Amino acid sequence: LDDSTADPFEIAEQAAHDLAQITGVERHDIALTLGSGWGKSAELIGETTAVFPATQVTGFSAPALSGHIGTLRSVVTPRGKHVLVIGARTHFYEGHGVRRVVHSVRTAAAAGVKTMVLTNGAGGIKRTWKPGQPVLISDHINLTGASPLEGATFIDLTDLYSIRLRDLARSIDPALDEGVYCQFRGPQYETPAEVQMAKSFGGHIVGMSTALEAIAARQSGMEIIGFSLITNLAAGIQTTPLTHHEVLEAGRVAEPVISSLLARVIGAL
Ligand code: 6GU
Repeated sequence: LDDSTADPFEIAEQAAHDLAQITGVERHDIALTLGSGWGKSAELIGETTAVFPATQVTGFSAPALSGHIGTLRSVVTPRGKHVLVIGARTHFYEGHGVRRVVHSVRTAAAAGVKTMVLTNGAGGIKRTWKPGQPVLISDHINLTGASPLEGATFIDLTDLYSIRLRDLARSIDPALDEGVYCQFRGPQYETPAEVQMAKSFGGHIVGMSTALEAIAARQSGMEIIGFSLITNLAAGIQTTPLTHHEVLEAGRVAEPVISSLLARVIGAL
């Protein structure tokens, strides 16, 4: 993936072949990328048939950070859907390039996945939001300056986050609020001025993932749903400084509740 003359889709095909070999599952139906706070859902969505280090699959790299897990898992739901659970997200801020960031999404597509579920832990701009609250992503603003599309690939991003799937999620939890996710490059958190900029642009959530992955998922023709766990309010919205510890702790506390919500949504897909 670091070789710009290599075809990233061919590498994803190879990775999907590895996946089929390791899991014994020829095609997966759904992929779920786990952000911080969402990990427990992996156990709640069904019966795990395989769990293994992502590094066993072509193109996947070891996780850079504590709080992020480096495993892939194949789960079968009670309704018989095969879910590829991706606990090994590569972030853009790691500096390995966009191809590596979206490799898991392209691998999922090559493995037959038609529905991409993206989750993350993020900062909230809406003052009414409380840490520990899950929100639906209604749209995004990509502030990374990067794109997973190479060359002149003009694709439409209208209703990128599926209206049908958002309605489905709200039918399961009518209290779910939604907002526009702004992906910053990171890894530093935003300044209060940057948060105000995001707000004036129409953003409600700030984070460091998801948008680039959603673009790649759309390119591959998948239907997409995204959830953010609000782990804290963004800089300047909350008055105390942000810490990575606080983000992980909010995730740990919220995990059982939001994971069961997510499992119910996936069960209904
Ligand atoms: Cl405030 N910003 C970003 N970019 N990511 C976060 C966050 C804030 N809180 C959790 N993740």
